[in-house]
Amino acid sequence: MLELTHASVEFAAAGGPRVRAVDDVSLTIPAGTFVVVIGTNGSGKSTLLGSIAGTVRLTGGSIRLAGHEITAWTQHARAALIGRVFQDPRAGTAGSLTVLENLAVAACRGRPAGLGWATTAALRAEAAARLARIVPGLEARLDQPIGSLSGGQRQIVTLVMATWHRPELLLLDEHTAALDPAAADRVVQATARLIREERLTALMVTHSLAQAASLGDRLILIHRGRVELDVDGPAKRRLTADDLAARFDRLRRDDQLDDAAAQTLAEAYV
Ligand SMILES: Nc1ncnc2c1ncn2[C@@H]1O[C@H](COP(=O)(O)OP(=O)(O)OP(=O)(O)O)[C@@H](O)[C@H]1O
Ligand SMILES: [Mg+2]
Repeated sequence: MLELTHASVEFAAAGGPRVRAVDDVSLTIPAGTFVVVIGTNGSGKSTLLGSIAGTVRLTGGSIRLAGHEITAWTQHARAALIGRVFQDPRAGTAGSLTVLENLAVAACRGRPAGLGWATTAALRAEAAARLARIVPGLEARLDQPIGSLSGGQRQIVTLVMATWHRPELLLLDEHTAALDPAAADRVVQATARLIREERLTALMVTHSLAQAASLGDRLILIHRGRVELDVDGPAKRRLTADDLAARFDRLRRDDQLDDAAAQTLAEAYV
């Protein structure tokens, strides 16, 4: 279970007003829930995920994960509970190592040094099985440098690494944004399958309204750092990409009206 209580993140913007990138967000996400997070550029999605991962400090509120009050935990301490996959396929893996060596690093993470996993045949078999289960055929690449894989294949390996020791929470911040549409679709379908099969608790940020409509148990729309829409169950299942597009249009129109009003006010007071 992930619980955010009045979570806020405020940034000091140079020369301007402070930006409330996350604005008083309270959310309870039961274990095993697959949440899709959407929102326009700059709405606060990455800051929200970063505040959960510990790369961004909350300026207000608190976060609990799996029974732990983690608000004051470092990013490193939280990594024991949280798996992450980033936008850049190069970010989660070591380019100079083979696929197997990368997976060995993930397998040994948090385990006592010198456990010997890295050299055992058991690890090789386990790594091959895990890759094959997500993308059949990928296990044939175990001994190749990870840099020889396509971006999509590399994201799959990163996903296997991030979930090797079943994390309490999986954070995916536009992890298919750097891929071509076909590869992005394959990776996102594989991701959804893994989350479902392992019953992981996951937050996945995407700009694809089609993915947002079709995937996940729950959908959260962030706007100006706040939760604008939060649906699950039958309401989530009924949502279409067109519904979401219409909502986005409305939000953009409201923003433009707000900007125009602010401009008018600013002009009135010069
Ligand atoms: N380190 C920072 N310092 C100052 N402002 C920041 C910082 N990081 C983010 N912001 C601001 O916070 C707001 C939210 O940014 P964030 O990156 O969370 O949005 P996002 O929803 O992830 O956008 P995108 O869809 O483009 O990835 C933006 O106004 C952004 O400029
Ligand atoms: Mg972002």
